[in-house]
Amino acid sequence: MKRTVRAALDEAAESIDATDARVLAMHAWGVSRAWLAANPREILTESQGARFDLLVAQRALGHPVAYLVGRREFWSREFAVGPDVLIPRPDTETVVESALARLSGEARVCDLGTGSGAIAVTLACERRGDHVVATDASPGALAVARANALAHGATVEFREGSWYAPVAGDAFDLIVSNPPYVAARDAHLAQGDLRFEPRGALTDESADGLASLREIIAGAPGHLLPGGWILVEHGYDQADACRSLLAAAGFRGLVSIADLAGIPRVAGGRRE
Ligand SMILES: C[S@@+](CC[C@H](N)C(=O)[O-])C[C@H]1O[C@@H](n2cnc3c(N)ncnc32)[C@H](O)[C@@H]1O
Repeated sequence: MKRTVRAALDEAAESIDATDARVLAMHAWGVSRAWLAANPREILTESQGARFDLLVAQRALGHPVAYLVGRREFWSREFAVGPDVLIPRPDTETVVESALARLSGEARVCDLGTGSGAIAVTLACERRGDHVVATDASPGALAVARANALAHGATVEFREGSWYAPVAGDAFDLIVSNPPYVAARDAHLAQGDLRFEPRGALTDESADGLASLREIIAGAPGHLLPGGWILVEHGYDQADACRSLLAAAGFRGLVSIADLAGIPRVAGGRRE
């Protein structure tokens, strides 16, 4: 049966969010938001209809929109994403903002657990003279991050391995990380987009979700130049724990920075 654009969108809105339906339609038909608004009576071809219906059915099963369209915007740039990487979150822009506020000169920067490369690629684009190293334990994630660096013309040195292993012997002006910090028993892991994201990007399987943050903060003094900063993203209820870990590791000038929702999201400190 022939369907118009409006009929297909209305039908989709019965099973998924109407905004998601428009994003999937734009992807399925290769059109802009403006085209959708201007052409509600356009008749869809069979293959256009089938492509859209498949995406709607997947979304109705919970598949994240970002995975279905293969990209997500971060710091006003498009990042390719897929099931090997965490979908970059707006909260993580707080890490980027905090990092940019502390960088000067030709800095050496390390992003631990780079995922899609959202933080590392953004910093490399915003500060072309810096030397940015990005690591991840997941080869699949590194492949996505490399593609994103290439797409944005960013110079980033990618290395594979667990936390500081790939940067043994190196020291930086800034270490940034958005590590897995969701506690293994957290009910959110079984809800929404998190069900489809790599478990190793979300949780460290320890009881409290702090295992990665502990390791990253404890190892930071050995990989920071004097006066260098560490900035880590953490969970909504982990600010105090991060502050204690930073103090125990000897960091000074401790900061706690809130995200756009006013929730403490980034903890940091400076090496003496
Ligand atoms: C929360 S995701 C963050 C991804 C990206 N930095 C972002 O902000 O969107 C955490 C990342 O840490 C990586 N990771 C988990 N355990 C690791 C480890 N032991 N060493 C290095 N990377 C690890 C995961 O593969 C994942 O890409």
